[in-house]
Amino acid sequence: MGHCPCFGFRKKANRGEKLKFQQEEHSKVIEKKLHSPHNVSAEKPSGLLTPEATFATKEIDHSNNKAHIFTFRELATATKNFRDETFIGQGGFGTVYKGKLGKLNQVVAVKRLDTSGAQGEKEFLVEVLMLSLLRHPNLVNLIGYCAEGDQRLLVYDYMPMGSLESRLHDLPHDKEALDWNTRMKIATGAAKGINYLHNEAKPSVIYRDLKSSNILLDKGFVPKLSDFGLAKFGPTGDQSYVDTRVMGTHGYCAPEYATSGKLTRRSDIYSFGVLLLELITGRRAYDENRGHDKHLVDWRRATSTAGRGGHSDRSRFLVFQAIRSESTYRF
Ligand SMILES: Nc1ncnc2c1ncn2[C@@H]1O[C@H](COP(=O)(O)OP(=O)(O)OP(=O)(O)O)[C@@H](O)[C@H]1O
Ligand SMILES: [Mg+2]
Repeated sequence: MGHCPCFGFRKKANRGEKLKFQQEEHSKVIEKKLHSPHNVSAEKPSGLLTPEATFATKEIDHSNNKAHIFTFRELATATKNFRDETFIGQGGFGTVYKGKLGKLNQVVAVKRLDTSGAQGEKEFLVEVLMLSLLRHPNLVNLIGYCAEGDQRLLVYDYMPMGSLESRLHDLPHDKEALDWNTRMKIATGAAKGINYLHNEAKPSVIYRDLKSSNILLDKGFVPKLSDFGLAKFGPTGDQSYVDTRVMGTHGYCAPEYATSGKLTRRSDIYSFGVLLLELITGRRAYDENRGHDKHLVDWRRATSTAGRGGHSDRSRFLVFQAIRSESTYRF
């Protein structure tokens, strides 16, 4: 499912500001940022990276994390010219294809950016920079990228079980619903990924885009956080928050962040709580078709306070019945 911006417009192309970077310029920018212990935003060769994109990479061993630079031709070959049969899905950032890299003999997912405005360009760079610096078993692995002419592509490890969203909602009849243990395993893995970003990565990172469509599932349903284009480095010094333009997704966005623009690690924790509810109840975080109950959090709040009107036991029973009975996982 595509991205649904909360406020602000994620990934919206501004064709007037189309930027024509060449592959070498991109790799120079990325290389420089990865190897500089200082704030290199002053160079601004792209004019797109904000002062927040500061790196203290001394503490991060990224020697093995170097993203591979692909030519467009290599990726076109890998995906059979982006033919329909290799199509995996469409998001707000672009289209994703399954491919096979001859030279690495590896099955990959190739995300082809279909906007080349300033926002798309920035997200592309942030994604490459973040994923080149971060390494954790619950984060998707970026193999490399291509920035040739107007083309922007990202190459990831292929995740055979698809996204968590596709396993939770509108499940085709030939696919089995996730059982309780798998759901909890996914929640635990996602929590470990977030904990790494918040407490182990240096500098710390606020993910800002936690949702079921961004949790990809590897063999054995090992969850991997993906899409770091909106991620921000955490606050430094005495500052407890990062001032940002509000970006996020309906249903997952923390209300205090949505109203103030002050981004904290707690914003991710709020989204994690929503994700947990989604896993437990099988309902979407935001569902236009559910009238007054379209926000999962509001619905859950209403069911837990309904007790004051005498319905508490009944509504709790319904929720727990949904949790316990595997047969009710299909909503
Ligand atoms: N590495 C991958 N392996 C397998 N499938 C992938 C991979 N990356 C993305 N996909 C699939 O491609 C589709 C599109 O993903 P994409 O991240 O572009 O969009 P999204 O997460 O649905 O929305 P958004 O743009 O808001 O993140 C999804 O169905 C996702 O599961
Ligand atoms: Mg995504």
